[in-house]
Amino acid sequence: MDFRLTEEQEMVRQMARDFAEKELAPGVAERDEKCEYPREEVKKLAELGFFGMVIPEELGGAGFDTVAYVAALEELARIDASTEIIISVHNSLVSYPLVKFGSDYIKQEFLSKLASGEWLGAFALTEPGSGSDAGAMKTRAVRDGDDWILNGSKNFITSGENCDCYLLMAVTDPQQGTKGTSAFVIPKNTPGIIPGKHEEKMGIRATDTISLTLQDARISDKNLVGKHGDGFKIALTALDSGRLGVAAQAVGIAQACIEESIKYSQERHQFGKPIGSFQAIRNKLADMTMKLNASRWLLYHAAWKKDQGERYTQQAAMAKVFCSETATFCALEAIQIHGGYGYVKEYPVERFLRDAKITEIYEGTNEVQRIVIGRALFDEM
Ligand code: CAA
Repeated sequence: MDFRLTEEQEMVRQMARDFAEKELAPGVAERDEKCEYPREEVKKLAELGFFGMVIPEELGGAGFDTVAYVAALEELARIDASTEIIISVHNSLVSYPLVKFGSDYIKQEFLSKLASGEWLGAFALTEPGSGSDAGAMKTRAVRDGDDWILNGSKNFITSGENCDCYLLMAVTDPQQGTKGTSAFVIPKNTPGIIPGKHEEKMGIRATDTISLTLQDARISDKNLVGKHGDGFKIALTALDSGRLGVAAQAVGIAQACIEESIKYSQERHQFGKPIGSFQAIRNKLADMTMKLNASRWLLYHAAWKKDQGERYTQQAAMAKVFCSETATFCALEAIQIHGGYGYVKEYPVERFLRDAKITEIYEGTNEVQRIVIGRALFDEM
């Protein structure tokens, strides 16, 4: 067993770190404050090849392995959790399932643009009435000649406004339950796809999160991903990979909490000494560091398992739960170490808490992850 990153993995991680420190750090607080989408920064990431991270080279991507991918995401999130999730959703929830299930037509027409950075992808699964119970979706696709006509609504779509296409799940055969769900790749400008309200969020405020209404949107059968009826499995396959991206986001936030807390506890003097010399503060930092290290290895192990071509559903769920709860824990402790200064916007740790909380919720709540982990113990998957 070798715990070091390979030369290539380390190079990818360093590239993301350099980019984050140079390009993301300067505006991150302002973008959070103003809920401003990182348009220029995302464009630069596209130019540098971050849109094609999980897409094989023969399909126009960079073909990084999953360990390199999560190491890069972690570095982005260490500085800017919003930008990280934009890149994670694009790669994990949209590009990866298209690599795995897309037809030659979809690979040519869509994946090539997603790989080159010309297009950004978004994932449309959740509906107002179906969140954790994703299989209860109501959006309907009805066959009409060579096309499908879609009606319904979707919500909580990360990058819903700034993207160029959606990977969208709809019911094609209501009698078949989850086996009657299909996945479609849909260009954003399709008539009948109507962007809805913007969510005003607590954290990851530089991302756009919107709802969609589908009103007689006409989509060619060529836009069907995989086979008719494969939609639910495609969504859950995408989410296994997405959960690694969320776990990486959480690890990056936790890392930032520790770094900021060490810095502050060296600068801040009380009772004639830097507060970092007090055991009470060091105990907190010790607990934060232990949890962060355990989180990172759970994440890297899950990523490694994916790279081996093994089923990693349970490992992704464990990484998602543990890393996200660590991020929230570390953010709360970072605020406590900063005292009153942790509660005001002059220091970044209050943003870290707001950003950390969503990692316990999206791409499957931690309650859903525990269902997934428990089911695997009884071989129910
Ligand atoms: N990969 C592939 N297939 C899978 C799978 C996986 N990880 N997990 C289950 N399946 C298959 C099952 O084998 C089953 O197929 P068979 O019938 O052929 O055996 C089928 O999918 C149905 O599985 P279940 O019976 O387990 O389905 P369920 O209805 O009980 O749901 C669930 C299971 C785990 C609760 C699932 O609904 C789930 O993960 N819910 C959470 C949804 C979620 O993560 N939503 C987030 C949306 S994205 C987002 O957050 C916004 C954003 O933009 C970031």
